[in-house]
Amino acid sequence: MNAENTLAEIANTIRQCQNCELSRTRKNAVPGAGPTDAEIMLIGEGPGFNEDNQGLPFVGASGKFLTQLLDDGGVPRESVFITNVVKCRPPDNRDPQPNELQACSAFLERQIAAIDPLIIVTLGRFSMARYFENARISAIHGQAVWRDGRLIVPMYHPAAALHQPKLRSVIMEDFSRLKEMIKKEKDRLSAQSGDKKSEDDAIQMSFF
Ligand code: URA
Repeated sequence: MNAENTLAEIANTIRQCQNCELSRTRKNAVPGAGPTDAEIMLIGEGPGFNEDNQGLPFVGASGKFLTQLLDDGGVPRESVFITNVVKCRPPDNRDPQPNELQACSAFLERQIAAIDPLIIVTLGRFSMARYFENARISAIHGQAVWRDGRLIVPMYHPAAALHQPKLRSVIMEDFSRLKEMIKKEKDRLSAQSGDKKSEDDAIQMSFF
């Protein structure tokens, strides 16, 4: 099955899922949206009121801000795949509970495997926790690290700026560096693989 069919199949399964309590109160499940061959995948927390109504991720106030942040950072929203750690709205936008995160985790794993993005941007602490156990977002936001062949970029959730206005400039600054950060890291990676290739060539040559 190609990535497009796989993602459509995962989305259908998510829409019918009843693996946790969130399925009882949702209007629409929100599997995710974006190109299936996206190089960058964004992972948020969970759908809010507007997302639950429309079945699409980040279409409310924080979604508007996210679109602006991506634009300002030189990464068009249309080029990225956006999803969440939980695919159904937690009532009253409460935090997702451990059993809900667990129930949804395999869907996210399958989406990551199908899209196979080079870069994952985590939005907020719940998606950050998948990659950085016990880390504090205030300490690591905006700092990219390579993990198992992917560049993981932990970012504040855009809604943080709506709740804590003094974070707005911090979030804007992190996103404004996104494209440059990705380029720098990709260059570093190809320089490293170039070094590795020269080393391999030198070893090869020494056999002759
Ligand atoms: N907040 C999220 O984390 N995800 C959405 O889809 C919308 C708001």
